Order: sequence, then C-alpha cells, then structure tokens
Amino acid sequence: MSVPTILITGAGGEMGHALIKALSNAGVEIVASDLRPLAPELAQRCAVVLHGSHGDVTNPAFIEAVSQYPIERIFHLAAVLSTAAERDPVRAHRINVDGTLNVLELAQQLGCTYQQHVRVIFPSTIAVYGFESLDAKLHCRKVGENDALQPQTLYGIAKLHCERLGIYYNSHYKKLSGEKHWVDFRSLRFPGLISADTLPAGGTSDYAPEMLHAAARGEQYVCFVRPDTQIPFMAMPDGVRALLQLADAAPEQLSRRVYNIGAFAPTAAEIAQMIQRYFPDAAIEFEPDPQRQAIVDSWCADVNDSAARRDWGWQPLYDFEYAFADYLVPAVRRRYATIEATDRH
Ligand code: SER
Repeated sequence: MSVPTILITGAGGEMGHALIKALSNAGVEIVASDLRPLAPELAQRCAVVLHGSHGDVTNPAFIEAVSQYPIERIFHLAAVLSTAAERDPVRAHRINVDGTLNVLELAQQLGCTYQQHVRVIFPSTIAVYGFESLDAKLHCRKVGENDALQPQTLYGIAKLHCERLGIYYNSHYKKLSGEKHWVDFRSLRFPGLISADTLPAGGTSDYAPEMLHAAARGEQYVCFVRPDTQIPFMAMPDGVRALLQLADAAPEQLSRRVYNIGAFAPTAAEIAQMIQRYFPDAAIEFEPDPQRQAIVDSWCADVNDSAARRDWGWQPLYDFEYAFADYLVPAVRRRYATIEATDRH
C-alpha cells in the first residue's frame, strides 16, 4: 500500500505540533498549512508548507494551492477556540464555519480530480453540548453523542454545524444532481487536551495545562474557574492516537460519523492537588471569571464513549494518575530544565 499524502490545516497549533511529529516519524508526506509560518523544527518535517493567503482556509488561494497535490487525507485542525471565539464571534464563524465548508469543497474537488475518496478528519469538541444549569449537567454525568446538543458558545455552535456539514458531504452531497461523493468524513468530540510541549491559545479548558506549566516554571497560577468545576480532559498523545486510529478505521467499522472520546474527568481542585503532589511549592489560587465559568458550566462533566470503544477499539492509554506520572510531569520538567539551561548560556 502506498503512503497517503496528508494535508494538515492549522498545522502550527497545539494538535498540529503533535500530529506532525507522529506522522513524519511514520514517513508520511505532509502538506502543512497555517496562517503563520511554521516553526523550523516542524517545517523541516513537512514536504510542503503553505502560509499567509495560501495557508488561510478562508481564502480561495488556499484551495488553489492545495489542489495541486494528490491529497488522500485531511486533518482539518484550523479553528478559533472557545474563549477567543466569544471575543470575536464573526471572525470565529468565518474561520470555523466558512473555513470548514471550503475544506469540504476542496476534499470533494480533490476526490473528483484524482478519482479517490478523501478522508476528512475533523476535531469537534465537548463544547457542542450545552446544559441549562449546573444541576442538569451534574445529573447527566456521562453525556451520549445525541444528548444535550444545545451549545451556548459560538465555538460549540460552529463545531456542531460543521459536524453536520461533514455528514452532508459524506452522505447527501448534491443528491439531486446525482453527483458522486468523494468525501469520507469522520469526527471526534475532544475533551480539553493537556500537552507537556505546548500551551493552548484562547480555549476555556486552558486552566488545566496553564496550571501545570505555571507550576513547572515555579510561577503562581490564578485559576479562572471554581475548584468544583468538572469537565473531561485527555493527554495530548492520546488525542493524536485517537485521530490516527479513527482515520485508519475501515468504513465498515463505523456505525456513526461523530464520536465521543474520553479519558479522565477531574475537578479543577483535583487537578491542583495532583500538580501539588509533584510540585509541592506550586501556588494555585482560585478566582473564577464569571463568563469563562459559565462556559465550562454549560459543558458536560464527562462523556459516554462506548461507541468509539465498540466500533474502532478506542481505549485511552493515559488515565488521570498515569497521565501526570508518566507523561505530563516528566515531560514538563525536562522542558523547563532545558529552557533554563539554554537561558543560562
Ligand atoms: N479546548 C477547547 C476550548 O477550550 C474545547 O474543546 O475551547
């Protein structure tokens, strides 16, 4: 079997970092796109790097630039996260919704040109869920894929809409004119992701990674949500494994096109305690920000991911204890020790 050519949009983001490393280690040809130039250590792992108007999923120049390559898979990661989207909803809608429509059209065109199905793998989010009250959220415990789809944020609304757009391109595109569909769409609803190598920008689950990185740097952290706040989280290596596993699944394994995936669901207080176990001097305070608190209060406390487990064998490698003991803490310690050593020289 030949190695597919893969497009990664939003390649310079947190998930792009981890995915480029995993795919380039496996010898895959990567076409990477992002608004900004990629960091040199990522760019050197890619066959083609597009940025500026060519890396902008909302720009026709992007479609023209990418159409030259026989892409078989697209990891469409470009998006504005939840807090940033609330600050500029119109821009976020343009990037998250119009950008995704462009990527789906591109996939259909690529399929038609090269006469092959194009798998589009789309990271969706727990932000598609929306509970009216904290009681309703806590009562639900593990939300199923078809429950509580009443998102309150622009980010959640856009992601839910794009899931549906993807299913349209996958199953119903231009049925009226009998046009062949070339898009094979698959999506994962991600929990908050925690990486030891990068920090997120503009999300609302950011308190967990920010708390960890601040502790490793010996800095105080003021957490913007209450200690009892609970949402699901996942270690970044599991997030990347899930993307790759769903991308590789045979179509007949999939009973649906959008899956929940879970790993662990601690409260903010439990995260702080775990971090203080490894960094006893970590100074963590709680000063909830009412707007950001309302966003996470509307998200689910945990997810039911039994469909992913049954259909394509989803199983997180990292639970809460193991994620910190084996991955996050050793890796952030190494990271900041290296940075300190470089600064000293
Ligand atoms: N991590 C995302 C955010 O906080 C949610 O999926 O916006």
